[in-house]
Amino acid sequence: MAELWPDQGGPFINYISGPPSEMWRREQVHGLVLLGSTGSIGCSALDVVAAHPKAFNIVGLACARNIERLAKQALKWRPTHLAVLDDEAAKGIQALLPADYHPHILVGREGYATLAALPEASTVLSAQVGAAGLNGTLSAVLAGKVVCLANKESLVLAGDLIRRICTQTGAVILPVDSEHNAIFQCLAGRGQEITRLILTASGGPFRGKTSQELRRVTPKQALQHPNWSMGAKITIDSATLMNKGLEIIEAYHLYGVPAERIKVLVHPQSVVHSLVELTDGSQIAQLSMPDMHLAIAACLLWPRCESVNVPPLDLTAKSLTFYEPDEEVFPCLRLARTALDGRGGRCVVLNAANEAAVELFLAERCSFMDIPRLIAATLNIYDTTMPGHQSLCSVSAAETNATKSSLEKEAQTLAHRIASLDEQSRDRVYSMARHGGFPC
Ligand SMILES: NC(=O)c1ccc[n+]([C@@H]2O[C@H](COP(=O)([O-])OP(=O)(O)OC[C@H]3O[C@@H](n4cnc5c(N)ncnc54)[C@H](OP(=O)(O)O)[C@@H]3O)[C@@H](O)[C@H]2O)c1
Repeated sequence: MAELWPDQGGPFINYISGPPSEMWRREQVHGLVLLGSTGSIGCSALDVVAAHPKAFNIVGLACARNIERLAKQALKWRPTHLAVLDDEAAKGIQALLPADYHPHILVGREGYATLAALPEASTVLSAQVGAAGLNGTLSAVLAGKVVCLANKESLVLAGDLIRRICTQTGAVILPVDSEHNAIFQCLAGRGQEITRLILTASGGPFRGKTSQELRRVTPKQALQHPNWSMGAKITIDSATLMNKGLEIIEAYHLYGVPAERIKVLVHPQSVVHSLVELTDGSQIAQLSMPDMHLAIAACLLWPRCESVNVPPLDLTAKSLTFYEPDEEVFPCLRLARTALDGRGGRCVVLNAANEAAVELFLAERCSFMDIPRLIAATLNIYDTTMPGHQSLCSVSAAETNATKSSLEKEAQTLAHRIASLDEQSRDRVYSMARHGGFPC
């Protein structure tokens, strides 16, 4: 099977982890923990398990507060452990379970970390939303698990650290994000001859729009993704193209490829999920229906390829088109590249400011076009006033978590403060960001 693993020794590809151990491969049944089981990825993962029930034993499920959905899942799969965000949710879930079923109920960050490290699980799906997902990912890699990683923010926030821990513990990362999973499949057995990775982007609901047209778009319009059905946060990120920006950072950490060798192409049909370019100029692509069940199954069932009831692709049904993204109208792509240039804390600030801006937009407290501007302004202020954080470089998991949390809080507070300024002051802050080299 080693030939299925991306080459780790080539000049361009330096994959984040080694392949799964022989012991994991020989397991007839993988003990499985699903972090974020009630979300879009989590529910699709349970569909994959339902299509291959003999391959998995679900030992843990986790949500934040959607205890009704968690209770339904728990009743069906009867895991020994559940985890929720707080004591109120813990009390609530207990009350929803029948008298003859007593799983351990774990609570909060500690609870998610314990769940991700359960000895009876060899495999963990990390699918909690946003920066909150890093805690579970770190716990799983520290415990040496095979981690099916949907939570891209984990790599954005702590990619270097995760790489280092994988080397120490033998943990394995399998990429669930469809673009990165496509690249993983295209890279099988290759390394030396790769020159570029090409990430495709649907362009989201506002593809082709001008800045003028985007000034008044509503959260409802931004939540209408043309091709994918996903959670709210990633749907807004797709509309601003920040999702693709985060994916550039994710690809950089996963594949050890310099950012300038990671290209983005808009491909509205979402059929070609990504490509790799070889030294002779040829390209290898992975194509399928736009359905996350496929990428999730490719990880959970790795290295097998089995049906998960997604119809085969009919290439006569669609014409496929590709073009360059408009980075003037969608500056989040450049902002992500700029953050990656600075490394260290800049990616944490980018992510935190983005999470704050998306929340503000969904609450109708800022406009769609304010999202990149708030991120740019926060990055600019961070660069000029918080240089002490520049060296956020993963000394240990605990230290990274602590530094990251304080940096995140500062960045989110800043983004909120800027959003609440009057229009004139806000424009001045945005203009300072542009002068500071942050496009918006
Ligand atoms: N959806 C996709 O197609 C897709 C594709 C590629 C990558 N991803 C990535 O996968 C991750 C999950 O995305 P999603 O679309 O599945 O999100 P989602 O539908 O919003 O689900 C998020 C999950 O995380 C839980 N959660 C929310 N806040 C939490 C917190 N503070 N602590 C712990 N758990 C929390 C939610 O629980 P409750 O239900 O109780 O709120 C839910 O189970 C994201 O990082 C996203 O970027 C998603």
